Amino acid sequence: MVVIGTGSSLPARVLSNADLEKLVDTSDEWITTRTGIKNRRIAAKGEETSKLAAEAGRRALEMAGIAADQLDVIILGTITAEMGMPSCACLVQKEIGAKNAFAFDLNAACSGFLYALDLAEKYIKADPGQKILVIGAETLSSRVNWEDRNTCVLFGDGAGACVVTGTDADSGMLAGRLFSDGSLYKLLFMNTASSMNKDLQLKDNDGAYIQMAGRDVFKYAVRSMEDAVKSVLEKERVSIEDVSLIIPHQANIRILQSLSDRLAVPIEKIYINLDKYGNTSAASIPIALDEANREGRIRRGDYLLLCAFGGGFTWGALLFRW
Ligand code: ACO
Repeated sequence: MVVIGTGSSLPARVLSNADLEKLVDTSDEWITTRTGIKNRRIAAKGEETSKLAAEAGRRALEMAGIAADQLDVIILGTITAEMGMPSCACLVQKEIGAKNAFAFDLNAACSGFLYALDLAEKYIKADPGQKILVIGAETLSSRVNWEDRNTCVLFGDGAGACVVTGTDADSGMLAGRLFSDGSLYKLLFMNTASSMNKDLQLKDNDGAYIQMAGRDVFKYAVRSMEDAVKSVLEKERVSIEDVSLIIPHQANIRILQSLSDRLAVPIEKIYINLDKYGNTSAASIPIALDEANREGRIRRGDYLLLCAFGGGFTWGALLFRW
């Protein structure tokens, strides 16, 4: 499976650390040193998750040089679809006119795009002629508690996408390893709206926003991504020195510095744009992939690693030969 086009889309409005200082008891210095985040984008009317996703998808299709009605499948990773039904992917299908595709959402939190890409590879293996649009899109601003300084400074909105298809060449996705551990879900979770069936209402549902135990998440994120990266490299017998670029989930600069230390790779080999966009969950890897691709940071033949960690817990790594 090869990537033949990438695209991304970000809301116009920028929310800086200085803006956040006016909302909660925080400072640019605290946010910058603890997270590396300077700005994040916040969606406005007309920039719902499906709209951002559709725009990212259009840009990926344009680069791939194919029309929307040539798509066979749309898979969209998100935890912030604007509706419970239909799926965000179906709204994207309508928006871009992909009338010959089937479309569905996938929930693996910040690992959503990796899970979606891994699944696309299985479809492509079964029928290499297929063309699949894989998207990660989020409007986390709709699901953070804007009075909680522990979380509201971390997240942002955006979407990224890629078009994939089969290939005869000795390139493309080489291997993927995905993992989950639901037993740790309470360290990072988001309730939905309260159940209409009173018997099914959760006792401790205090609101439909993100809650987390930051320090625990930090430790698991570093260890899990390290393990996933090592296991995918071992599977393909590729050495970390041969990898040209790692595009990780963009949660926190200190997580990425720890990952760089543990893997013994220079930080320059890790693509970082979280200073501009914060943590955009499932959208963070495809946005970074699109930026790296358009900047010429990925060349044909390069080994490229994608890795993620998020709520569930879910985590994983995919290895590509570009
Ligand atoms: N501004 C100022 N002070 C703050 C803020 C803020 N925005 N947020 C928390 N604090 C305070 C706390 O209240 C606490 O004060 P206290 O000592 O008086 O109680 C103090 O800072 C230290 O809080 P900690 O939570 O211990 O700070 P820590 O050094 O662990 O940093 C952080 C917090 C940045 C959340 C860190 O734990 C982290 O990065 N965790 C990873 C979590 C993450 O990235 N989650 C995203 C979702 S999961 C994913 O995408 C991988």
